[in-house]
Amino acid sequence: MPNFVKLNEDEVKALEKNPTQYNGEVLEQPQTEGSRKLYIESYGCQMNFSDSEIVASILSKEGFSTTTSLEDADLVLVNTCSIREKAEQTVRKRLEHFNHAKKNKPSMKVGVLGCMAERLKHQFLEEEKIVDMVVGPDAYKDLPNLVAEIDEGRDAVNVILSKEETYGDVSPVRLNSNGVTAFVSITRGCDNMCTFCVVPFTRGRERSRDPKSILEEVDALAQQGYKEVTLLGQNVDSYLWYGGGLKKDFDKASEMQKATAVNFAQLLSMVAKAHPHVRIRFSTSNPQDMTLDVIDAMAAHENICKYIHLPVQSGSNRILKKMNRLHTREEYMALIDNILERIPDCAISQDMIAGFPTETEEDHQDTLSLMEYVKYDFGFMFAYSERPGTLAAKKMEDDVPLETKKRRLSEIIHLQQKHGLYRMEQFVGKTVEILIEGDSKKSSDQWMGRNSQNAVAVFPKGDEKVGDTVMVYIEDCTSATLIGRRSID
Ligand code: SAH
Ligand code: F3S
Repeated sequence: MPNFVKLNEDEVKALEKNPTQYNGEVLEQPQTEGSRKLYIESYGCQMNFSDSEIVASILSKEGFSTTTSLEDADLVLVNTCSIREKAEQTVRKRLEHFNHAKKNKPSMKVGVLGCMAERLKHQFLEEEKIVDMVVGPDAYKDLPNLVAEIDEGRDAVNVILSKEETYGDVSPVRLNSNGVTAFVSITRGCDNMCTFCVVPFTRGRERSRDPKSILEEVDALAQQGYKEVTLLGQNVDSYLWYGGGLKKDFDKASEMQKATAVNFAQLLSMVAKAHPHVRIRFSTSNPQDMTLDVIDAMAAHENICKYIHLPVQSGSNRILKKMNRLHTREEYMALIDNILERIPDCAISQDMIAGFPTETEEDHQDTLSLMEYVKYDFGFMFAYSERPGTLAAKKMEDDVPLETKKRRLSEIIHLQQKHGLYRMEQFVGKTVEILIEGDSKKSSDQWMGRNSQNAVAVFPKGDEKVGDTVMVYIEDCTSATLIGRRSID
């Protein structure tokens, strides 16, 4: 899942220069107490950021407190992303930097977590001599043992993928938190096997988390004053709880289990009903699994935000098929029509891949024309990057020249910017409800918050505070930001 940040102009330029680069990486600023110091850095999707909070929680019980200063760290962990080659290169560069820090402090240990750990396994220890520990996304509960191993001077590796693990029983330590918005993971892994995607290999088969533990986590967040919760999964619409186990084994469940199973639409309604004053978001939806029940649940609950991240990857039926995306362009358009019929002001965003193997100019034009049809509010756009082990890497030649990929990507980005601006302009002259998340990036005299549609708004500070929901009159906008003032009504 991409981070929910909209590209600003500089980022768009950087992306155009280096199409596989954008990765939404953020340093965390943790804040817990303990005697040994843990420095943790996360890359890639929201799930990784959420996992780092689980890791911090598990290690806090081992006496680790988190620090933002690398020099102070006894243990350095980097939670990695494999989604595109560039993401892996970024991590390797960071490891060089950690190597430097380790020279000044030889007792410092370095561990690699997440998707790169899972993909490269023991190979990591050979390729990157400074790495002491390699831990895959399902093995974080083994961290106390693995840390004990490295304390004794041995390398430690656990990359076993699980059928059960959801970390439902771990209360995350909130890292780098604004105290207003938080992530709650509801599924792990993915069964979809899109041919370009490394996630099913690095995060394993799909399993859902007990709705009871999800509700408990949301309760705890609400009690701590959080105002917005994003339910996370690689493919949230495929959520299915029937007492535990893999999604693919549901057929083997008992009649009783089947009768009491909870699907995503039901989960969404349960969470929304339990906390009518907390905003609920979710990500990511795969069009092939999104049902009308989910849209109905959104329409029925005021506090479920009117925003759906609905990656399509390509507008060409031929390419969708080669990607193993199990819907057509026409079915996708019908889904968009259904969403807008039930929720006319729903915002929709996309992920697109430019230059998938065999993509022709005609396929690319299909992507642009689909974008014209939807006029997405936001977009996360990437040049195809071949990932070892995927079906596309095994069966298809990466045959679209880099220059062509870059040019197509830049056309997609420019069209998205035009549509983003068009969508933002629809709010100008209107009063919208904004949840204040903190200071605006540009000025501490201004607040930054989002409306239900996930559009960022800035406005001059008054007597409000972070976490307040206020009505803001939108006077102007850019393609990324609404500019407003507190409405006097
Ligand atoms: N279902 C996931 C998708 C994770 S990957 C989710 O929750 O968002 C996020 C996006 O990265 C994908 O939608 C796709 O657009 C992009 N991506 C994945 N593999 C890629 C590859 N090999 N090359 C380029 N982009 C890729
Ligand atoms: Fe990847 Fe497709 Fe799953 S993009 S995460 S295999 S839905």
